[in-house]
Amino acid sequence: MNDEWICGRMGEDEPWALGAVNPPVFENSLFTFGNAAELGAAIKDEDERYVYWRGTNPTVDVAQRKLAALERGERAKCFGSGMGAISATISSLVSAGDHVLVLGAVYGPTTQFLRYLEKFGVTHTHVDDLAGCDSAIRASTRLLYFESPSYMAYAIVDIAEVTAWARGRGLVTVMDNTWSTPLFQKPLTLGVDVVVHSLSKYVGGHSDLVGGVVIGPSRLIRPLALTEYQLYGAAMSPHDAAKVIKGLRTLPVRMAAHQERGLAVAAFLEGHPAVRAVNHPGLPSHPGHATAVRQMSGFSSLFSFELATDDRQQAALFLDKLRHFRIGVSWGGFESLVNAPALTVEESVRATMGIPVGLIRLSVGLEPAETLVGDLGQALEGSAA
Ligand SMILES: Cc1ncc(COP(=O)(O)O)c(C=O)c1O
Repeated sequence: MNDEWICGRMGEDEPWALGAVNPPVFENSLFTFGNAAELGAAIKDEDERYVYWRGTNPTVDVAQRKLAALERGERAKCFGSGMGAISATISSLVSAGDHVLVLGAVYGPTTQFLRYLEKFGVTHTHVDDLAGCDSAIRASTRLLYFESPSYMAYAIVDIAEVTAWARGRGLVTVMDNTWSTPLFQKPLTLGVDVVVHSLSKYVGGHSDLVGGVVIGPSRLIRPLALTEYQLYGAAMSPHDAAKVIKGLRTLPVRMAAHQERGLAVAAFLEGHPAVRAVNHPGLPSHPGHATAVRQMSGFSSLFSFELATDDRQQAALFLDKLRHFRIGVSWGGFESLVNAPALTVEESVRATMGIPVGLIRLSVGLEPAETLVGDLGQALEGSAA
C-alpha cells in the first residue's frame, strides 16, 4: 500500500458509498435499529458500531482508516481539534500519582494541559535531552511526551534512541507528529507507542478546519475511544471528516510544494546579512540535519529565523513591512503566514522563556518561492536599522 493510494482511494470502497467519487457525509446524530436486542448489542460495542455521532460516524471512519494506514498504526480516532486528541490521549494514559516526562519544547497548550492535570495529582517535568530524562525519571513516571522537530526551535529528537530508552524503563511514548504530517515521518515505525496530530495544519491544508487525531495500537486506542472520546465529547463532525478526506487527496502534492518552497525561502534567509540564524532542519547547517534525514522522508515548511536585532521596534517594523505574508497564528495552510512570538508575549515572559526578540516564525504556503523571497527581501531591507 503506498501513501498516495491511501490518501486518494483507500478505505472508501464501502457498499454504502455506491461507487461515489467522494464518500457520503453521514449527517445524522444517531442510527436506528430493527429491534431492542440489536440496539443493546451495538451499545456494548460502540467503538465498532454506529450508534451516536459523539462516538462513531461512517464518514469519520473513512478519515480514521486513512490516517491509521498512513501512520502504519492499527487504529485512529479523530477529534474535534488537535488539543482534543492530545488531552484525551494523555488523560487516558495516566492516573493520579503518575509522573510525565516532557522532552524538548512542545506546543504551549500541551504544557498548559499538563499543568491543569496537577490538580488531579499528575505531575510532569520538562527536560532537554536523554541525560535530563535519566535525572528526572521517577518510580511513578508513566509517560514520555515529545515533538520532533520541537516547537518553535525545530530541534530534532532521535526518535529511535528515545523510544529505546523509554521502552527499557517501561514508559509509554506519545509524540506529536503534526509538523511532518504522516507522509514525511512515521514515528510508530521508530518505536513510538502513540502519535497525535493537529489536522488543522497541513492535513486540512486550506485553513478551513480544526481537527485532531490519535493513532496507535488497538490496545491503547480502543479504551480511549470508549472512555475519553465519549466523555469529553470532543468528537469530529462528519463535515470536518469530509474536509480531512479532501485534504488527504492532495496532501502528497501539496507537501512536495511546501517542502520545495520552504527550503528555498530558508536558504535565502540563511544567506541574508540581516538574519542571525535560521532554524530549519532541512538545511545542512542545522545541528539535527543528519538525524532528520535518517528518520524523515521530507520537510514541511514551518520554521523560524532570528533577525539580527535585539530591538522590538525593528522586529515589529519587519512584520509591518511584509506585503505578501499575512500576520496570524496557526500554520500549514495554502497561505504564507508570519508570526513573531517575542512580540506577542509580555517582555518578562519572553525573557523567562528565552525567546529572542528577533525570532520570527514563517509558515511557507503554496505561492511561488520568488514571490515570498521578494517579499521577505524588501521587508528585511525596509526594516534595517
Ligand atoms: C504542534 C501542534 N500540536 C498541536 C496543536 C493543537 O492543534 P489544534 O489547534 O487543532 O487544537 C497545534 C496548534 O497550533 C500545534 O502547533
